[in-house]
Amino acid sequence: MRWQLALTIPEGSTPLFARIAEAVVEEIRRGRLRSGDRLPGTRRIASQLGVHRNTVVAAWRELTAQGWLVAKPGGATTVATLPPQPIPTERPIRRAGFEVEVPRAPATSPPWPPGTLVFAGGRPDLRLVPTREIARAFSMALRHTRNQLLDYGDPQGHPRMRAALATMLAAERGLVVRPDDLVITRGAQQALYLIAAALLRPGDRIAVEALGYPPAWAALRAFGAELVPIDVDAGGIRIDQIEDAIGAGGLRAVYLTPHHQYPTMVTLPAPRRLALLQLAAQHRFAILEDDYDNEFHYRGLPILPLAARDEHGVVIYVGTLSKTLAPGLRLGYVAAPGEVVHAMVSARIAVDRQGDRVSEYALATLFEDGTLARHLRKLRRIYAARQQGFASALRRHLGDRLTFEVPAGGLALWARTDVDPEAWARRARAIGVGFEAGRRMHIHQATGPWLRLGFAPLGADELEPAVQRLAQAIDP
Ligand SMILES: Cc1ncc(COP(=O)(O)O)c(C=O)c1O
Repeated sequence: MRWQLALTIPEGSTPLFARIAEAVVEEIRRGRLRSGDRLPGTRRIASQLGVHRNTVVAAWRELTAQGWLVAKPGGATTVATLPPQPIPTERPIRRAGFEVEVPRAPATSPPWPPGTLVFAGGRPDLRLVPTREIARAFSMALRHTRNQLLDYGDPQGHPRMRAALATMLAAERGLVVRPDDLVITRGAQQALYLIAAALLRPGDRIAVEALGYPPAWAALRAFGAELVPIDVDAGGIRIDQIEDAIGAGGLRAVYLTPHHQYPTMVTLPAPRRLALLQLAAQHRFAILEDDYDNEFHYRGLPILPLAARDEHGVVIYVGTLSKTLAPGLRLGYVAAPGEVVHAMVSARIAVDRQGDRVSEYALATLFEDGTLARHLRKLRRIYAARQQGFASALRRHLGDRLTFEVPAGGLALWARTDVDPEAWARRARAIGVGFEAGRRMHIHQATGPWLRLGFAPLGADELEPAVQRLAQAIDP
């Protein structure tokens, strides 16, 4: 045992060594000390308890004689392998002794069996992560800052990362933002949670895409928002229904994914964008723009975010490095009007104090030296090719069974099928290919003939067999 073993020695008239032995037996009975646990040396225990070492040695001898402890060659003492009888069946207390409202578990699939080729929506190919460059950047960051990054720091995010992001957002996405307008978060998910904390009061109405991103809804609901589902059609979120929702009780915000609508991948056209911005300015509600995969647009002119056209301070813009670098790095960001930034920062201090300064600083250096831009160009090339290869494999093997449009960007396809997608997903799973039916992405879990196929994590040599297995599983 590397740690100290805190023991409470019972009071009593029996000799001290016996009471120490009694304390150890009690801990074995409670299940705190388990078979095979190695006890600290007698010298350490003695000094910790403030007793003579011989007293502990005597206790250990007694416990060994009774079969509770085993003296191992080399001097170590471990808890014996005990039959179940001496240990009472009740385990350490696991149930709360007070009322706890357990939230409904989010719908998650069981883990995929090993070897499954998974069309994981929204996941990048982790094999492409530039780990060498990231490792070097972390190591340099720690060396060059003389451990300063390990201190408490700015809860808004490291200034160097905010500066790097402001430069990128101005150049690539047309946003006029200063580093002070940005908050660095642990992924887009925390960004949404902090925005919700900053903005919402119980009962606030928020319009969301009826087919949309459930984790975002969870963040909004956590602060008591009432979600108002708005249908999504071939042009994205329906503005007429947003107007109806305004008429029916007002809106605090609209949460949407305008660039590549999650999960349908439709790009919100310009007239709807302008209409939404006008409505927000007129009715003073916020637009939460989740631009989770902006980087991956392969065809047509770049489409600037709503935030780039915001003249009235209505857009709160969310981005992430989860697709460009890796989801496990947990790096996201928000560009927002000043009051929202302040409210988010105060929420952040309460929950998390600050982000991961080491990674913020280290990854900022990859923005500055061009590594990230280079990496992104490479990813775009690879994913654009995978998207094309995937679409043509689907047409070849499932041409008459699936209908889909190849979206202008993104890491997934949204397709309509002529079979029950959930039953298909179950059959597919059994032969080593995974995908998700669209039901999970509907706010009321409504069933529909839809599925979402994330192609990004599968290499060219995996896409073909994966599609073959899909085709094999389509009919019972
Ligand atoms: C629509 C949407 N928003 C946000 C995210 C959040 O990503 P993260 O929290 O990893 O930044 C994702 C990830 O898949 C997404 O699909």
